[in-house]
Amino acid sequence: KKDIPTPQWRPRYHFTPEKNWMNDPSGLFYLNGEYHLYYQHNPLENVWGHMSWGHAVSRDLIGWKHLQVAIPEIETKDTTTWIFSGSAVIDKNNTSGFGTKKDPAIVAIFTANQPKQKKESQYIAYSNDGGLSYTQYQGNPVIDINKKDFRDPAVFWHDDTKQWVMTVAMVDEHQVRIYGSKDLKKWDVLSDFGPAGYTRYGWECPSLLPINVEGGSKVKWVMLVSSGSERGPLMQYFIGDFDGISFKDDNEGKKVRVLNYGDAYYAAIEWRDAPQNKKILLGWLQNGARETFPWKGQMSIPHDLSLKAIEDGLVLIQSPSSVVAKVLSGYALEKSLLEKNLVINDTRINLNKERPFTGNSYWLEAEFNLGDAKKVGFNLVENPDVTKNVMVGYDAVNQRLYIDGSTGEVNNKSRRNQMLLAPMKPINGVIKLQVLVDNSSLEVFGNGGEKVISTMIYPDANATNLSVFAEGKGVLKYLKIWDFKQGK
Ligand code: FRU
Repeated sequence: KKDIPTPQWRPRYHFTPEKNWMNDPSGLFYLNGEYHLYYQHNPLENVWGHMSWGHAVSRDLIGWKHLQVAIPEIETKDTTTWIFSGSAVIDKNNTSGFGTKKDPAIVAIFTANQPKQKKESQYIAYSNDGGLSYTQYQGNPVIDINKKDFRDPAVFWHDDTKQWVMTVAMVDEHQVRIYGSKDLKKWDVLSDFGPAGYTRYGWECPSLLPINVEGGSKVKWVMLVSSGSERGPLMQYFIGDFDGISFKDDNEGKKVRVLNYGDAYYAAIEWRDAPQNKKILLGWLQNGARETFPWKGQMSIPHDLSLKAIEDGLVLIQSPSSVVAKVLSGYALEKSLLEKNLVINDTRINLNKERPFTGNSYWLEAEFNLGDAKKVGFNLVENPDVTKNVMVGYDAVNQRLYIDGSTGEVNNKSRRNQMLLAPMKPINGVIKLQVLVDNSSLEVFGNGGEKVISTMIYPDANATNLSVFAEGKGVLKYLKIWDFKQGK
């Protein structure tokens, strides 16, 4: 049902627009202590349409200031131009001539979607006021190959070859086209990547980023691609090398690497120029299962990315950003629950009495010594009257992290798949879980970000019971909660 206010589902530490529709993050950049976030936005309604770039800024990635629409749709007599996803760069060397070296322009590169013409081409626009407002470039489009589905340019400066590099999706071909440019206006094709990995659904929002391999100076390139599976949205990634012309996948033809094992995480891109060369990724959590009002759509928690060598080779690690973790206690009450090294012998323990607040906005961190336990984990958002809940846990028999929403309606009956699973091994018999519950979202990080599952939940207002359990005998090494305060 539409237009019924749903304050119980408004997240407290995940970004939402004040009102109306939001999808993909776009043009993330960091400047003068502020993280800028643009997003796919319908400024007029709570459904997809009138696509424009909404805008907000934050100093800590939790507290956000909402700003005016930065790039609105363009209406002319015979054309509607929607501002689809893309990126924004700080043109420090004034390669484009839109600013000066002293006072660089911010240049946005995005897809102009023209529904009447059934066409997508790439446009640029520039800002001389720090990203608040943009002027469309007179020479648009800057790339036009007369295609209907050709979108989501992500642009970065490649210092080795002294050029701007763009990755953009050839949606139906399941390819990423890579372009190069000296001035952000004239673009030359460098190469194509793909088809590869999942190709059942169209490819969107590709991006390419260099990441240091942990414990050394080696840098590898990671290509992220948003697409879909039977379960819903799916992001895959490839690890390889980029020489300024083409991307070579190290694992060509081998199994697909899944970025997020949930059914909600999509269109993630990284922040340009984040401090300390941090790689911070932000994704959109799709909110399809139920209506929320007066807004629709939320962002994930920002993830810090790193590359780690494990048994299976290199993997991408995604932990909740340290930028957020650093300020958590300013927004939430931190408390240790239960005693350390508590033996849980085939039982469950209600945690409500231990908690500072009993809402559904909190952040849990725990480690379990598996011992002989078959399963360990948490029961979330239980309704005391009816058996409805969501379980988050580790299944030691099948060696996988899971979210099980199959026992209740909090997860909407009609969902295609209520068991969300991620293969994961314990480390020396220990499992670490970070469980982020935020009124209508649930993100679970296993073993410090080796595996991530993000999904949406829609609990009743009185479904706030939380408990910890073990099937068989396991040891809870510690359990911490950051409970978000009610009201502001
Ligand atoms: C991904 C996407 C992009 C497109 C945008 C339109 O969710 O479909 O490919 O640019 O959303 O809103």
